Amino acid sequence: MKQEMIIVLDFGGQYNQLIARRVRECSVYCEVRPYTMSLAEIQELAPKGIIFTGGPNSVYEEASPHYKKEIFELGIPILGICYGSQLMAYTLGGRVETAPVSEYGHTKVHVDESDALFAGVTADTVCWMSHTDYIAKAPEGFQVTATTPVCPVAAMSCPEKKLYATQFHPEVLHTAEGQTMLRNFVCEICGCSGDWKMDSFVETTIRTLREKIGGGRVLCALSGGVDSSVAAVLLSKAVGKQLTCVFVDHGLLRKNEGDEVEAIFGPEGPYELNFVRVNAAQRYYERLKGVTEPEQKRKIIGEEFIRIFEEEARKIGAVDFLVQGTIYPDVIESGQGKSAVIKSHHNVGGLPDVVDFKEIVEPLRMLFKDEVRQAGLELGIPAQLVYRQPFPGPGLGIRIIGEVTEEKVHIVQDADAIYREEVAKAGIAPKLGQYFAALTNMRSVGVMGDFRTYDYAVVLRAVNTSDFMTAETAELPWKVLAKVSSRIVNEVKGVNRVLYDCTGKPPATIEFE
Ligand code: XMP
Repeated sequence: MKQEMIIVLDFGGQYNQLIARRVRECSVYCEVRPYTMSLAEIQELAPKGIIFTGGPNSVYEEASPHYKKEIFELGIPILGICYGSQLMAYTLGGRVETAPVSEYGHTKVHVDESDALFAGVTADTVCWMSHTDYIAKAPEGFQVTATTPVCPVAAMSCPEKKLYATQFHPEVLHTAEGQTMLRNFVCEICGCSGDWKMDSFVETTIRTLREKIGGGRVLCALSGGVDSSVAAVLLSKAVGKQLTCVFVDHGLLRKNEGDEVEAIFGPEGPYELNFVRVNAAQRYYERLKGVTEPEQKRKIIGEEFIRIFEEEARKIGAVDFLVQGTIYPDVIESGQGKSAVIKSHHNVGGLPDVVDFKEIVEPLRMLFKDEVRQAGLELGIPAQLVYRQPFPGPGLGIRIIGEVTEEKVHIVQDADAIYREEVAKAGIAPKLGQYFAALTNMRSVGVMGDFRTYDYAVVLRAVNTSDFMTAETAELPWKVLAKVSSRIVNEVKGVNRVLYDCTGKPPATIEFE
């Protein structure tokens, strides 16, 4: 039986990814597709429903994205949101104008509870608005199903044709009853049974990958991070030994991390994959000798990774497919509907130029981070790996200010391990966005026993953030900080001072370099 699916047709709005996610929260599979997708392609996919997203344009301008009128005749239910609602009205003969007053933010909306979209929604409810144009007149055959003092058509519907539209954004959490509206659309109007679960995603993906890859050979650069790990396990379940994972241990990983990754993915682990661990620590320390400039350090670390990957790939021989752990936010970055190759270069730093492969495989490109984590748990990947906090590609190389040496790597590894252990013990880890220890380039005078010391200062950082673009300093309990500080100076040789970074982002960044 074909899987039930809703398509989100992307007209360039900022909440597109959220819509797909909210639909999946209704246990219905959902994918975002560009509005350039043809009618024939849509029919081929046979979705149970289509959602038109918002977008920054005005429908009455010729250059704005439009869609053929025939889409409304397919008999597939459609929900238009914001720009999508205006597009529906405009295409079907309604009138769209610049609103006399723009509406932004929380807005009281009066809805018609007898409309199928608003079943179970309170008559006067709060919705999230963000528009300058509005539907001044609904097309013939439509009824107005919601209004605000500014918006004569805050929502409209034509139940016979299963067409629905809202000027506001039901996908945004600020729309208090938005999820009820989306559930009404997906389950009641489109008639989806809501039987999709992450395990169905895992099963279907494994099956599709198997069909696609056939007897081909697959290569994956495994970092031990959540995304590449989940992608590797999916592939290994699909094609077993046809997959080879290359894990470059650059000697800039957290304490014991290399061994932990190997324990899971290596020959002793539960997965049947060809695992190649390249211990390149000395090679990295050599290349980083005397280098203090942050960008230069980053470049060397990235370049060396590519060189090592090339060497390993040559040993393996011809490869048909390259696996990437690209997830939805990465897809957005590269622009919807554009070739994934741009992003793959970005992710793996130019690998495709040298590795002889036919195609890039990106099994997670439709998922959000927390959905990837759910898939990881579904695949039996240990929770400690699934819930790892983000760790930058250049690793400790950018958490050691100034020159990187093996001695400094050990100092920061030990300090960081103590910090993570105490934060975990205090039970506050789930509340923090990211936290780690870094090594300053500063040495200062201290006293230990009866002796003068002249040692390094370790700096602790902890931030709260939802998107990592901005961040606030986390207010760690003093007891935890005191314990960590005392343990670090006592247990880590070469450190006599511990500082706490109280800077947000901006003006600082999360990492130090
Ligand atoms: P910044 O330091 O820019 O970090 O505030 C924001 C987030 O990105 C992570 N980060 C990186 N991740 N490669 C990565 O994969 C990198 O070069 C890199 N630099 C920073 C950082 O850990 C934080 O989560």
